[in-house]
Amino acid sequence: MEYRTIILGAGAAGMMCAAHAGPDTLVIDHARAPGEKIRISGGGRCNFTNLYAEPGNYLSQNPHFCKSALARYTQWDFIDLIGRHGIAWHEKTLGQLFCDDKATQIVEMLRAEMTRASATLWLSTQLIALSHGESGFSLELEREGTRIAVTCRNLVLATGGKSIPKMGATGLAYDIARQFGLAVTETRPALVPLTFTDGRFAPLSGTALPARLSNARASFDEALLFTHRGLSGPAVLQLSSYWREGEEIAVNLIPELPLYDLLRAQRQSSGRKALSTELARHLPAKLVDHLGLMLGITGNLADQSDAALATLCAQLSDWRLTPAGTEGYRTAEVTLGGIDTDGLSSKTMEAKTLPGLYAIGEAVDVTGWLGGYNFQWAWSSAVAAGQAI
Ligand code: FDA
Repeated sequence: MEYRTIILGAGAAGMMCAAHAGPDTLVIDHARAPGEKIRISGGGRCNFTNLYAEPGNYLSQNPHFCKSALARYTQWDFIDLIGRHGIAWHEKTLGQLFCDDKATQIVEMLRAEMTRASATLWLSTQLIALSHGESGFSLELEREGTRIAVTCRNLVLATGGKSIPKMGATGLAYDIARQFGLAVTETRPALVPLTFTDGRFAPLSGTALPARLSNARASFDEALLFTHRGLSGPAVLQLSSYWREGEEIAVNLIPELPLYDLLRAQRQSSGRKALSTELARHLPAKLVDHLGLMLGITGNLADQSDAALATLCAQLSDWRLTPAGTEGYRTAEVTLGGIDTDGLSSKTMEAKTLPGLYAIGEAVDVTGWLGGYNFQWAWSSAVAAGQAI
C-alpha cells in the first residue's frame, strides 16, 4: 500500500498535522483512541493554548527554533479554529484557555478536521520495522493481528515524549530519529512534582498557598502545594523544568505580603497576641506549626524586636530546600529535551539530512511552560510541517 504521507502518532500534533498535510495521508497510533493526553489534560477541560504564548515560554537548546512556527500559526489561529467548531472556552488564569465543557471536544474537532482533509486513521497499529530507500520510507505494520507493508514519501514523527508510559508514551520518535542519523538531546521529566525522601512534608499534605519559587535560572509566582512525597502545584511544576539533581531551590512564602509592616502594626495594637496566631492569619496554620520549631516562632508579638521580625520575614521569603528528585515520567506532564533542533528546519520541521522526514510536537527538543504552551507548540509545529508537505 502506498501513501504520500504517514504520520506516526495520533496525538495533538499528529492529528493537527494530518488536517494540513494534503491528500493521501495515513495516521498510525498504537493506542485504541486518538488524542488521549488531550482527553485527560487540564483536569478534563484541556488548557489548549495560552493568550500570551511566545518563544520566551519555551525551553530548548536552541531558544530561537520555535519562533518561526509559533509566529505562523498562533494562539489566535487556534482560537479561530475552535470558534469555527463552536467550542466555548474561558480564560482561567494567566492567559490559560480551557474548554467550558469537555476536553474531548478538542479531540472530536481534530477528528473532524482530519476527515475534512480525507486523512485515514489506523488505531491499535504497531510499527514493526522501518527503512528508507530510493522510493521513500517502507514500513511494516501490525494491525488486528495482520502484517501490512506500506510505503510513503513523507514520514512525520509525532509520537510525543516519554511522559506517562501508562498512557502509551514511548521513545519511538527518538529511536527513529537516531536510526536516520538525527541527534537527540538529553531527555528528562519536566512539569513534574519534586520529591523529598524523608517525608518531611507529609503532615502538610494538601496545604497550598501562593508562593514564589526560584533558582538561578527561573522564578515563578504561582500556587505551591505540599504533598506526601514533597512539593507540587503550578509553581513547583514550572520550576522543575529548570531544576537539576542536587540543586537547591528558594521558596518565598510571602511574595506579595508586606509581612514585616503588618507584624509591627499588630505588635503595636495587639502585643499580647501569640506570634504564631498572627502568622496563621497570613499563612496556613499547619505551615506555621511546621516552621515553628525551625524558625523559633514563639512568644507574643510584644516579645519580638524589630530585628527578630525582620529575620523571621527574611527566612519566610527565602526558605532553601534541596529536593531529592522528581516523581519522574510516571507523573511528568512533559518530556524536556528530544530530537535535536539542529537537525531540523525551523520553517518546515523537516530533517536537514533526510528530505521527507519530519518531527513535530513534544518529540522535538522544544518544551513549554505549564499553561497551554505545550499544546500550542503541538499545533504550531504540526501546521508548519503539514503546510510544507
Ligand atoms: P502526544 O503524547 O499527544 O501524542 C503522541 C501519540 O503517539 C499518542 O497518541 C501515542 O499513543 C502515540 N504513540 C506513542 N508511542 C507510539 C508507538 N510506539 N507507536 C505508535 N504510536 C505511538 N499541555 C498543555 O498545553 N495544556 C494542558 O492542559 C496539558 N495537560 C496535560 C496533562 C497531562 C496529565 C499530561 C501528561 C500532559 C499535559 N499536557 C498539557 C502536555 C500535552 O499533553 C503534550 O505536550 C502534548 O500532548 C504533546 O502532543 P504530541 O502530539 O507531541 O504528543
